Amino acid sequence: MNTHENIGGHLPKDWDRKGLPAWTYHSPAMLELEKQELFRSHWQLAGHVNDVPRAGDFFTVDIADERAIIMRGEDGVVRAFHNLCRHRGSRVAAEKSGHCKNALVCPFHGWVYNLDGTLRGAARPQSFGPLDKTEFGLKPIELEIWMGFVFIRYLTGAQRSVAEMMSVYAPELTEYQLEDILPTTSFTDMEIAVNWKSVRDVDNEGYHVAMAHPALQDLYGSTYYDLPYLNGVSRSLGRFNPHAGRCWSVRNYVAIADRQPWLSEDKRNLWGYYGLFPNLVIAVTPESVQFYQEFPLGVDRTLIRGAVYRRPEESRVQRVARYLARRIDRETYKEDIQLSIWSNESMKSSAFDSFHLSDLERGVRSHHDHIRAVLPVTTLVQRPPEDRIAALNDAMWEGETEPHTAVA
Ligand code: FES
Repeated sequence: MNTHENIGGHLPKDWDRKGLPAWTYHSPAMLELEKQELFRSHWQLAGHVNDVPRAGDFFTVDIADERAIIMRGEDGVVRAFHNLCRHRGSRVAAEKSGHCKNALVCPFHGWVYNLDGTLRGAARPQSFGPLDKTEFGLKPIELEIWMGFVFIRYLTGAQRSVAEMMSVYAPELTEYQLEDILPTTSFTDMEIAVNWKSVRDVDNEGYHVAMAHPALQDLYGSTYYDLPYLNGVSRSLGRFNPHAGRCWSVRNYVAIADRQPWLSEDKRNLWGYYGLFPNLVIAVTPESVQFYQEFPLGVDRTLIRGAVYRRPEESRVQRVARYLARRIDRETYKEDIQLSIWSNESMKSSAFDSFHLSDLERGVRSHHDHIRAVLPVTTLVQRPPEDRIAALNDAMWEGETEPHTAVA
């Protein structure tokens, strides 16, 4: 069994500043291992309980070849199921989100499911043998609700609960009353033509902020710092620069954003980013909360998904501040996407040796350490044959093959 939270502290010293080898960014066999050992085996944020406030509300999310539907039942319970009809596998819900009155009807042949996932009945039932309502119900997915956020996990593994992992940061997040936040729009998603790790690499460090993000640099400048991933969680904080104002959005945002009387003084000028390995960030600002995450669609294709939430009783000033914060974020996303593309392209170049990471990029290093701990085959500098990658990884887990020397 993989010890997902052993962050792999025994790498040789000369690996400390290196990133994962380039081959891991464009290997189909590697991606299949990542889907299984990272995406299906780790908690994935699907949404928030307030995305499904009424019985019959649902939303869907696709993760690493799996499809989920999160739905509130008539008993008020939020459940997660595979979005997969038990007849021939159609999606039972095709939309990203929606509402069904008191049952889900499969769009293929019309099998009907209750809101608790049990089968209500098949179309033309006499054409089947007996159908047990539970046996042929939607297959449940493990679910955990933490501070209102709905997490799902396809494969139960060694990873602790979200609440346990996030307990180190829970005290400082309690004040944001995350259970009460409300969605502002539906989930957003955007496809980008790079490997998912290149997206995460850029987001995992603030070293590039001064050069690449004029608005963020204006907003919090040198106050930004990262606490790298430790036991699956990370944190980055930036505090408003008292001299902020070169950028229009930042100037106007800072002028009003700290007027949040419900927050302690200490948090009124703070943007905080809380990471959960392998692919999630929950970001809190004085006026709003958002999450963003990456899902691999292919070796060179990634879906960036997210949502923005607001205070339950949002004042006009908070609404304007939220609008301005999103303007700053939009600029940042655009800049980060370009950086991800350049970084990912470089992995195919003969001139690319490896990352050489600074102390300010500990977030990248610690994320890679977490990946190495789960997938030891990523410690091999030279690319193994594609058809041996999975077996090598297993062998390295079993201790049959020495890391770093297995493939010459
Ligand atoms: Fe759903 Fe046939 S696949 S009813």
